[in-house]
Amino acid sequence: MRNFIVAIDGPAGSGKSTVAKILAKKYSMTYLDTGAMYRMCALYFLENNISLNKQENIDKHLPLINIDIDKDSFYLNGKDVSKEIRTPEVTALVSYVAKIKEVREKMVELQRKISFGKDVILDGRDIGTVVFPNADLKIFLVASPEERARRRMKDYEEKGIKEEYNKVLAGILERDFIDSTRKEGPLKKAEDAVEINTDGDTIEETVAKLGVFIGVARQQKAKRDGEKYDI
Ligand code: CDP
Repeated sequence: MRNFIVAIDGPAGSGKSTVAKILAKKYSMTYLDTGAMYRMCALYFLENNISLNKQENIDKHLPLINIDIDKDSFYLNGKDVSKEIRTPEVTALVSYVAKIKEVREKMVELQRKISFGKDVILDGRDIGTVVFPNADLKIFLVASPEERARRRMKDYEEKGIKEEYNKVLAGILERDFIDSTRKEGPLKKAEDAVEINTDGDTIEETVAKLGVFIGVARQQKAKRDGEKYDI
């Protein structure tokens, strides 16, 4: 039986990773946070003070970036950077790093390798369009920029990071713009994706909605594979 793949794409702060994590646990699937991978690349360029404007810098440094993921822990060249990749500094840079063609090629290859042979939920921007265009289920999660900014503020508060609402909102709009207008793997709803607006939803409500789609997609897949599957 081929592995079961769920792609969740959408703009910054639409709730993808929160719900993907819960769903993966519920359905005993592997969760892959592809945004964290781009964040690790951004952290590398930030920590080593490398300008992104020179192609030779990219060519030289990209092979030196080694990424390992173990459950909720993210390792950059052997160091656990799970906290560092969520700082406002990394968040402000990440979309500029994620639009570099060579960075995307390396990350997409790694995402396919990590997912190989597993039942997996991936969240990102280009999962349903580029990484796994044949995914069993594609979800495009959206919410208004204001709601997304409020959620991000809450995340920061919980981590003890002080940020201004207007700055967070502007950062989200900027990232949406860069992510949607880049040439390689832009943020885009796949034609066959189900769009879900999470404005005003609690996490549980969004999880419940997505759970219905996962149930149906699993059933359809079981039928294709000639197996029986009860929701
Ligand atoms: O959690 P949040 O919505 O802030 O973003 P994220 O999922 O951690 O992704 C951070 C950034 O990585 C995005 O703004 C994109 O620039 C980039 N990204 C991407 O280009 N492709 C993906 N598949 C995932 C993330």
